[in-house]
Amino acid sequence: MDTKIVKIEEDNIDQEMIEEAGKIIRSGGLVAFPTETVYGLGGDGLNEASSGKIYAAKGRPSDNPLIVHIAGMEALPKIARKIPVAAQKLAERFWPGPLTMIFEKTDCVPYATTGGLNTVAVRMPSNKIARALIEASGGYIAAPSANLSGKPSPTEARYVIEDMNGRIDMIIDGGAADIGLESTIIDLTGERPIILRPGYITEEMLEDTLGSVEMDKTVIDGNSSQPPKAPGMKYRHYAPKGSLTIVEGHSLAVTEYINTQLEACAEKGIKTGVIATDETKEKYLADCVKSVGKRSDEEVIAKHLFRILREFDDENVQVIYAESFDSRGMGCAIMNRLLKAAGHQVIRL
Ligand code: TXA
Ligand code: MG
Repeated sequence: MDTKIVKIEEDNIDQEMIEEAGKIIRSGGLVAFPTETVYGLGGDGLNEASSGKIYAAKGRPSDNPLIVHIAGMEALPKIARKIPVAAQKLAERFWPGPLTMIFEKTDCVPYATTGGLNTVAVRMPSNKIARALIEASGGYIAAPSANLSGKPSPTEARYVIEDMNGRIDMIIDGGAADIGLESTIIDLTGERPIILRPGYITEEMLEDTLGSVEMDKTVIDGNSSQPPKAPGMKYRHYAPKGSLTIVEGHSLAVTEYINTQLEACAEKGIKTGVIATDETKEKYLADCVKSVGKRSDEEVIAKHLFRILREFDDENVQVIYAESFDSRGMGCAIMNRLLKAAGHQVIRL
């Protein structure tokens, strides 16, 4: 299949191009598009066949449900039942934005979209290109992140092109994603709201709106015996081709430990990489040292993490060490993704 690649500027949207993309989705095709979190791989969320195509293009197991993206609150009742007051409050504060809510689904939503579940995940993105596309597409775009299954979510169109060129109808290049990590997912179908995936909207922010919320235990704990409640969270994810290990401890001890390992690798001719911070990047002896930014600036770390994981692949790095990050606030989302990428391999000094 020929994939049409187009550039659209968020502040100067080419409506004709959006109409063309919307038409593709309405007629059952697939379009990758930017959102404020990561790029999405969009199809008509109410069309069973489109959802099937999404799974095929990603190489994704079909029990892993898709998020349905809407552009306005009036679109919600058609796909979600029993919308609780908590959802209204969250929507007022965080929509449009990087929050996904889980509801009971209506009959309009095919099981192909929800991976066989009776619930549906819904998000209203804030990116203007995404919003214009949703409106031009009939109002309900099912979209997982636009990466091949198992790879880091794409934060720039070039990574979507790398993974999806030839597999889908169109890719919209709208520049680098603002946030760089996928949306926070909160399940509102039970007695208490539960965070299934941490993100830019933190536990503290959600508690501030709802009172208490729970965090799914599997979010940080690799040894939890429970399966994660978001089916997609059980799969190996974000993993670079090289082996990735997180090293936790006092900064000096971490640098020293990693350097000892790097020296041993160098002797064996193994290509090495380190995920460092601005404070430490000069201290490592690896072939590729990449800083995610200043340790205190979580927003910048979030924005760079997936790109850096992909760069290690491009440079054929075989062994990667990462510093660990504070897991409070947005750090929870950063550590959740890093731990998954590392398959929970952590050295605690
Ligand atoms: O920021 C985002 O959420 C991006 C952009 C494109 O919007 N999308 C995204 O989609 O990250 P995806 O498919 O890569 O991740 C969706 C996650 C998966 O872990 C999936 O299992 C979970 O949401 N999920 C979807 N529907 C669910 C449901 N009904 N119940 C529980 N988990 C659900
Ligand atoms: Mg994904």
